[in-house]
Amino acid sequence: MTKTRPLTPRVFASHEAVSRHAAGLVIRQLTRKHDSLLCLATGGTPTRLYDLLRDRAQRKPALFRQARLLKLDEWGGLSMDNPATCEHYLQNALIKPLGLQRRYHGFRSDPLDPETECRRMASWLRRHGPIDLCILGLGINGHLALNEPASALRAESHVARLSSESLQHGMLKSSLKLPRYGLTLGLGEIMQSDTILLLVSGASKRAPMRQLLQPEVRTDFPASFLHLHPRVQLLIDRDAKP
Ligand code: PGA
Repeated sequence: MTKTRPLTPRVFASHEAVSRHAAGLVIRQLTRKHDSLLCLATGGTPTRLYDLLRDRAQRKPALFRQARLLKLDEWGGLSMDNPATCEHYLQNALIKPLGLQRRYHGFRSDPLDPETECRRMASWLRRHGPIDLCILGLGINGHLALNEPASALRAESHVARLSSESLQHGMLKSSLKLPRYGLTLGLGEIMQSDTILLLVSGASKRAPMRQLLQPEVRTDFPASFLHLHPRVQLLIDRDAKP
């Protein structure tokens, strides 16, 4: 079994500097393994990273040609073209500009049966996983993807009951309709990633960062499970430093 290391943040001067360092790591991963499976978070934190990757792809398209992309989670009950969805975000940030439609996989936001959709995702990951590099953000309430704080957590992809904090997420601010549930990779699927890149930015993340740095694993703070992973790169900006 691989030894774990204490979760130690690397602190950068700005969100821009975090994003640049993260872009370097993603590019290194793709250079080492052209068909890497990259799992992509959405939200405010990784937006600049994806801008930088798009710029790089324009200059060096070959780098991304064999990349495989996976959506980490989704707001359930919104149509696929709703601008608030993770689908809309990723299509515009990376999938369309990089021309990777056929190498991209993700939850539907409006499945007929959400449970079946999650079983489909879990089975896809068993066949095509594990994830090589999983890009994650830190929820204000400690959620990881849409694995929400609870007395028990789920290992595989599942339908999530959204917390009030998640329902106030920035992505939903201008949406007329709110999601009824979440669809998310499970903690086990995330923890099986070869490497995890956790990006944290801004003063609003100071409190969850303080909790994350406590040397304990708790189901009411799902991000704390990252203490059990041997290869987590925790990149934060100065504003997020507790
Ligand atoms: P954010 O979202 O990047 O928009 O802060 C992170 C999260 O809630 O998981």
